Amino acid sequence: MQSSENKTVFSGVQPTGSLHIGNYLGAIKNFVDLQDNYECIYCIVDLHAITVWQDPRTLKNNIVEVAAAYLASGLDPNKVTIFVQSTVSAHSELAWIFNCVSRMGWLNRMTQFKEKSGKNRENASAGLYVYPNLMASDILLYKAGYVPVGDDQKQHLEITRDIAKKFNNDFSAHGGDKFFPIPKPLILPVASRVMSLRDGTKKMSKSDNSSMSRINLLDDNDLIRKKISKAKTDPLPLPNSQEDLRQRPEAANLINIFSSLSGIKKEEIIVKYSGKQFSEFKSDLSDVMIRELSPIRDELIRLKKDKIFIEKVLNEGRAKAEERALKVIKEVREIIGLW
Ligand code: TYM
Repeated sequence: MQSSENKTVFSGVQPTGSLHIGNYLGAIKNFVDLQDNYECIYCIVDLHAITVWQDPRTLKNNIVEVAAAYLASGLDPNKVTIFVQSTVSAHSELAWIFNCVSRMGWLNRMTQFKEKSGKNRENASAGLYVYPNLMASDILLYKAGYVPVGDDQKQHLEITRDIAKKFNNDFSAHGGDKFFPIPKPLILPVASRVMSLRDGTKKMSKSDNSSMSRINLLDDNDLIRKKISKAKTDPLPLPNSQEDLRQRPEAANLINIFSSLSGIKKEEIIVKYSGKQFSEFKSDLSDVMIRELSPIRDELIRLKKDKIFIEKVLNEGRAKAEERALKVIKEVREIIGLW
């Protein structure tokens, strides 16, 4: 990133079920790394969550849990803005406008919609289909320049860029020229795609039926050890080089996780464990994981109970976010010619 440019960073996490190390290593850890040098806005995207039915009481708890996870991971509310999407109604308003800018053809290409709707496409909510337009509205409402996300959100960032360009172009003669910046994804190379512990070719996901496929941020130390020791591997010892990892997705995934948690380069890990059995590697991986994750887990559990503090953070965040959002949505209305 260069220093002269747009310093606004925006990202969001859905409050749908337990957060796992994919969310942490692929996204939240990067949110923390950016907070000292960028103007960061981090959202809990409850409107995205309801594109699939959510139990109302569970949804409320999950919102608190994501807020607590943000804070427990090291986000400082004095440095960053943390708020809940639905509390700033301009998100929905801009999303509607983007429903009218975005093209069916673009939405039809979204792999996440295809995956989530599955065979039952006719029965998927219309919200799930236009989900990327809401995501574009989240990012562009704050004119963000950078969006830290995992690799699975890349396509949604591409459509956001297309929407921004089309809006700017469609309204170029009416004050829209270069109105929205063209945001860039920030996808870290090592843990951009943390894979399932049961199948190294599948993404680690909240919705996987097997809880053994993921390490949740709330898992206790014994459960972490158990899940790592049972993580699928192949019968060979650990590889000698990165090339040897190409055909070994489970080994590659565990090494990536190790590297991302410890900050040790993959090459160094490979040199250290080359030719050794997985049992030794897995025991060390569990140690590293417990060392890194247990303070976050303990703080998360503590903060979840401190509803007054969480509400204070979210209220202050809402006020800061809303102030910015209202300015932009007012200009958008003007540009479009709305009453
Ligand atoms: P969500 O809630 O599915 O995931 C939150 C973040 O975690 C990342 N992630 C992963 N990274 C690496 N490996 C994995 N296995 C893994 N699983 C999840 C996701 O890439 C994401 O960064 N649409 C978004 C939420 C959203 C958003 C936004 C993001 C709504 N509006 C605006 C950025 C900007 C989503 O469903 O994330």
